[in-house]
Amino acid sequence: MLLFMTEPTTITPATGRLGILTPGLGAVSSTFIAGVISARRGLAPPIGSVSQMAHIRLGARDEDRNPLIREFVPLAELDDLVFGGWDPISANVLEAARTCGVLEERDLAPISSELEGIVAMDAVFDQRWVKKLEGTRVKAMTSKWEQAQALIDDIERFRTENECDRLVMVWCGSTEAYQEASAVHESVAAFEQGLKDDDDNISPSQIYAYAALSSEVPFANGAPNLSVDLPCMLELAAIRGVPIAGKDFKTGQTLMKTLLAPGFKARMLGLRGWYSTNILGNRDGEVLDDPENFETKEVSKRGVLDTILQPESYPDLYGNIDHVVRINYYPPRGDNKEGWDNIDIFGWLGYPMQIKVDFLCRDSILAAPIVLDLALFLDLASRAGQSGVQEWLSFYLKAPQAAGEADAEHDLFIQQTKLKNTLREWMGEQPVTHSEAG
Ligand SMILES: NC(=O)c1ccc[n+]([C@@H]2O[C@H](COP(=O)([O-])OP(=O)(O)OC[C@H]3O[C@@H](n4cnc5c(N)ncnc54)[C@H](O)[C@@H]3O)[C@@H](O)[C@H]2O)c1
Repeated sequence: MLLFMTEPTTITPATGRLGILTPGLGAVSSTFIAGVISARRGLAPPIGSVSQMAHIRLGARDEDRNPLIREFVPLAELDDLVFGGWDPISANVLEAARTCGVLEERDLAPISSELEGIVAMDAVFDQRWVKKLEGTRVKAMTSKWEQAQALIDDIERFRTENECDRLVMVWCGSTEAYQEASAVHESVAAFEQGLKDDDDNISPSQIYAYAALSSEVPFANGAPNLSVDLPCMLELAAIRGVPIAGKDFKTGQTLMKTLLAPGFKARMLGLRGWYSTNILGNRDGEVLDDPENFETKEVSKRGVLDTILQPESYPDLYGNIDHVVRINYYPPRGDNKEGWDNIDIFGWLGYPMQIKVDFLCRDSILAAPIVLDLALFLDLASRAGQSGVQEWLSFYLKAPQAAGEADAEHDLFIQQTKLKNTLREWMGEQPVTHSEAG
């Protein structure tokens, strides 16, 4: 085997406290925070978190080096994390957790005072972007420029009061109404002028992203709306040297799609149609019941198959696919979504076959470890001197942002290889290619 050593990247140690700020204290963020607090008290293992539970193979197969990722790369420790956030409805994390009903009282009771102590800051909120929600805990100022400055002040106050060495921000707020990028998003100068002019095309999530990047705080977007995937934010991230990642946590039905579709393609099985429908009854489902907000989600969910299956290279197999995605708001289900898929595939001589997937999943249980990993890895990237789009974090995202001109990768297994090889390279280890001898 050809051996070559890569120079390790200089990574500043993860000393001191890391603050994780989430705009949106709802189902995902409260489940994330409660899970981390439970894990560090030894009450429950952080299941689903690659940063905490996965091992990483180093060197040749027979070297038998397979440490935990968290022992291989210098990540912040769970004990060093502090949490904060903004919400126009939830008063604190305990209230948010009880309202969304993801975790049971037996899991919340032992940590209730800690959760109650994480009080929501008043949000930058505008009902124009989320018609279904009535926000009351909202910043009083109406000028978008002043709102951005108020968020920057919140960030600095949080940093000082909690004695944080570093911060990261992960958008866990509601999905905003669909929009296309416009002139105001073209550059930092245009965006700042837009804030001063109260430009109607600037959404709250973009104001949070602007405040984070201006404060040199890495930002990940867990929802499908436009926030850091805009030219102005790419420019700001480059100027400030801040890593970013987006968008839309890869959970539930799309996670299943990115598990199954690469398998069909690996075996050169054809696909004629994929019908996906969901019923869910949480606040996210209520927001997505509005067609404008659903459109944002639909665009994010539908992009997955084309990039994995490459119909331009395989027109006989994937050139004629009907891909339908539906989300239905059905309150009795709460956060326990049902994602149902009918998949029409075909094989040898074109004979058709069907696969039915009925995934009784828990969205926030799947999303919570993603918030943790994105936060810890963005902080690592920042300490490793990285800035701009972190394509190696596509693993966690439904509509991953590309760092260059080429489309981002959607295949979960390629994404996993990319994530692990990035860590290996930064630490001066060889990438693992799984070639014959390796
Ligand atoms: N749960 C999942 O598996 C999953 C997967 C992918 C993406 N997402 C996205 O993650 C986000 C959070 O999901 P959730 O299930 O926690 O939803 P949720 O409705 O329980 O929580 C979202 C919270 O954001 C708040 N919010 C709305 N606008 C805000 C603003 N401008 N500033 C601050 N807070 C604001 C709402 O009041 C609400 O409490 C949604 O956008 C959802 O689409 C979730």
